[in-house]
Amino acid sequence: MPDYPVDDRPTGMTLKVLSVASEAVPLVKTGGLADVAGALPTAVAPHGISMTTMLPGYPAVRQKLKRARTVHAWDDLLGEPARLLATRIGDHPLLVLDAPAFFDRPGGPYADPHGTDWDDNWRRFAAFGRAAADVAGGAVTGKGAQFDLIHAHDWQAGLTLAYNRFAPWAEISLPSVMTIHNMAFQGYFDARIFRSLGLPRSAWAIDGVETYGGVGFLKAGLQAADVVTTVSPSYAIEIRRPEFGMGLEGLIAARGDNVIGILNGIDSHEWNPGHDPALARPFSARKLSARRANKRALEAEFGLERGDGPLFIVVSRLTWQKGMDVLPEVADHLVGLGGRLALLGSGDPAIERELHKAAARHPGRIGIRIGYDEALSHRMQGGGDAILVPSRFEPCGLTQLYGLAYGCVPVVARTGGLADTVIDANTAALAQGVATGIQFTGVSYDTLAGAISRAVALYRVPALWQQIQKSAMASDFSWAVSGKAYADLYRRLTGTEQ
Ligand code: ADP
Ligand code: GLC
Repeated sequence: MPDYPVDDRPTGMTLKVLSVASEAVPLVKTGGLADVAGALPTAVAPHGISMTTMLPGYPAVRQKLKRARTVHAWDDLLGEPARLLATRIGDHPLLVLDAPAFFDRPGGPYADPHGTDWDDNWRRFAAFGRAAADVAGGAVTGKGAQFDLIHAHDWQAGLTLAYNRFAPWAEISLPSVMTIHNMAFQGYFDARIFRSLGLPRSAWAIDGVETYGGVGFLKAGLQAADVVTTVSPSYAIEIRRPEFGMGLEGLIAARGDNVIGILNGIDSHEWNPGHDPALARPFSARKLSARRANKRALEAEFGLERGDGPLFIVVSRLTWQKGMDVLPEVADHLVGLGGRLALLGSGDPAIERELHKAAARHPGRIGIRIGYDEALSHRMQGGGDAILVPSRFEPCGLTQLYGLAYGCVPVVARTGGLADTVIDANTAALAQGVATGIQFTGVSYDTLAGAISRAVALYRVPALWQQIQKSAMASDFSWAVSGKAYADLYRRLTGTEQ
């Protein structure tokens, strides 16, 4: 076996963490999980943590790998051959599970090209979890292949922690953290799959993988982890209630203080309006007038007329979670107030159809782009006046954080991370000059329409609006604080507090 190439722990790096995730930028992304998994290694590095990320070898990932070496092979990983590739991504070590039978397919990480979930997702991510647990448990020999802690993200990595805990072949069971990025996706499967997982019978228990008579991948991880984190303090409390806990509220409540909220940060290098190559014109809080060129460019790009009302933007998955079903109707209200709307997103076909109808009702006032476009999302944050985020639940949310950084004022539902990151422009906050956006409670036509009315009224008082933009841009949601919070947690769990 060749020397393990992730063995390059820089001086002072005393703790090695294996971060197990189904997506991470810059290799593969369907949502905020990828932003967070991609940013974590850099966020924790200043605190003496060396983080290796482990990803499935989808074609999108394999194509981008450079100088990868095989460091381990399985003849039979849940019935299929597989190998483990090691390389680096940026400054950080990366492991990729190359298992063509599971991951070498067209389409996205979880679904075929038509958007239908693969029906063997349980086997694909069980194999991923088993492989990750093997790596954590020392299957890969060689200098530096040892890890001190496992950090698993979302249901796709959940079984890693069950294998880590129950597998009789694992000599050591590492300390572990399970992060919930979204309780709505639990990886719940029929009980019949249990036999094929290769877990001991003792794992079929209420404190194991068994979940309402089936197998729950997220639940298994939540049960096995030493500490459960989620991505905002408010969501950590909300998931103790049935509406947000979605069946796992009892487990969350039972885990008590071992469930904590650590707010996501944003990559302030990627998202910096002063140095963003996607923008027509870079700008800063001190030179807000430079934003205008970006707004004009955005209007042109979406075929929108100019107007004296605000340009609202939406960058979102088009789903019920995101409140996007309410938007088409509210769009009429927005236009009636003199606003315009530019939307980028994809998702539920019924919502897409209604949005197209709204755009057809208001040519030159509403522009829609169905699809996924990273650079366009930057141009929208840089040119829009306000971003709408009417989520019914939002574990953290990143687009409102990008909006804050770019002076694109967030108009958000008061839930989860949205509640934790935006300061509502109420009378007291305005008087003290600390408002950074607009919040509203409960997602419905009336509440969203009311919030849009408030935004338009504030926009029409330029001094107030600019004050909000400047306060927004002064908010600091970089990884500095949260990177340390994760590092402190890893140290506590490994008994290596500094
Ligand atoms: P979620 O992960 O629930 O979709 P987040 O707000 O945490 O929500 O993260 C969404 C991420 O995906 C952000 O980085 C956002 O900019 C990006 N995004 C969402 N939809 C699109 C799109 N259609 N085009 C480009 N980026 C998008
Ligand atoms: C999930 C959540 C989102 C969060 C992201 C990253 O996709 O829906 O709120 O920001 O994960 O943690």
